[in-house]
Amino acid sequence: MDYLQIQGPTKLSGTVTISGAKNAALPLITLTLLAHNPVTLTNTPEVADIKTLLKLLENLGATQTLENHVLTLDTSSVHHTMANYDIVKTMRASILVLGPLLARFGHCEVSLPGGCAIGQRPIDLHLKALEQMGAIITIHAGYVHASAPQGLQGSHIVFDKITVTGTANIVMAAALAHGKTVLTNCAKEPEVVQLCEILRDSGIDIQGIGSSELTIIGTGGKTIDMVDFEIIPDRIEAGTYLCAAAITNSTVTLENVRHDHLNAVTAKLEQMGCRIDVTDTTMTLHPAKELKHVHIITQEYPAFPTDMQAQFLALAIFAQGTSIIEERLFENRFMHVSELQRLGADIMLNGHTATVSGGTPLFGADVMATDLRASSALVLAAMASEGTTNVHRIYHLDRGYENLEQKLRALGANIQRLKE
Ligand code: UD1
Repeated sequence: MDYLQIQGPTKLSGTVTISGAKNAALPLITLTLLAHNPVTLTNTPEVADIKTLLKLLENLGATQTLENHVLTLDTSSVHHTMANYDIVKTMRASILVLGPLLARFGHCEVSLPGGCAIGQRPIDLHLKALEQMGAIITIHAGYVHASAPQGLQGSHIVFDKITVTGTANIVMAAALAHGKTVLTNCAKEPEVVQLCEILRDSGIDIQGIGSSELTIIGTGGKTIDMVDFEIIPDRIEAGTYLCAAAITNSTVTLENVRHDHLNAVTAKLEQMGCRIDVTDTTMTLHPAKELKHVHIITQEYPAFPTDMQAQFLALAIFAQGTSIIEERLFENRFMHVSELQRLGADIMLNGHTATVSGGTPLFGADVMATDLRASSALVLAAMASEGTTNVHRIYHLDRGYENLEQKLRALGANIQRLKE
């Protein structure tokens, strides 16, 4: 197994190019299951989660090429409808094949994703919505067996809770359903917006894009002539590099970035004393003279993203005063706290709230990555700590950050990947 060795404290400078968004690419890859033509996706991030999903599509019978971030997918040859436990257990987002497979083939069998480090993460809302669209769903031997022999029927679905992959799954199912589907209380994340825009550009009648209510007229089972497209930049990777600049007291420029997707994140960085200059495709962070404490509440987009919570918690350790970080989306998303305490951080955890007393110096230690974003928080903290930190179990990082250590090294960090 690989680990990262980081020598701190470090100063960064220069420019980093942000990759395509993993969380946009995942549903967009499964969207191609609705197409009858080969589709080319540019700006595809080459990270482990994408390779896992491509493996799943290959198992279903799709053909593909991925070179220099250009992915071409042809799902016309798909003939299997079963998503196996072996793949689904490694990546929950595999559940995104459920809606498209059911809509296209009238049946499918998808392994239940099971537990997850950051909380329970059920898929009940996905299943309930499909049932409302006429699907017959049974759970047997760890698999969701879904069928809709007459095809899925349009319906009015009100999500009890806002769910990102749930919205994406049902939008895809509705695109091939019979008649009109109205989805209320939808996720408004940029990744969901892009999915809807591609369907619209491919000829699907879809209204309300970017709002919490979507209306979709399905094709009645007919596959789609899908357009080629470019995946939006990864706002979470971008936010992580902004935090890397802020925590190391450095000026760093991000390229290939959409600042309008990062308003909640930049607002908090500005409150902490940083300055951010933007152009259409770049963002430059100028560090705070002295980082100020912050109050963060994670919520659905456009509010502050839970996927940036761990990185800001790391940043708050280096701010003056007491910061409050409230996690509202996942019940167990503070596992990085005990690892950050190993570096010397003063953090009190009480249920969903972390209280961070800033300004205590950190010293390098061995720490363990526990999930994708928690891992990046450890890397950030390590770059601002005195001495050597070894971050173990970095396969979590590889799931979602493309070339993290190369990108940080190019900015001047003293970081290397070693074998245990
Ligand atoms: C997506 C993102 C993930 C991000 C999360 C929240 C992808 C691939 N992953 O995950 O990075 O952290 O959004 O922004 O895009 N819930 C239910 N029942 C369901 C579905 C969800 O109770 O059927 C709950 C979840 O447990 C959680 C909340 O709803 O508490 C939000 O989850 P959801 O938006 O579905 O997260 P994901 O789509 O899995």
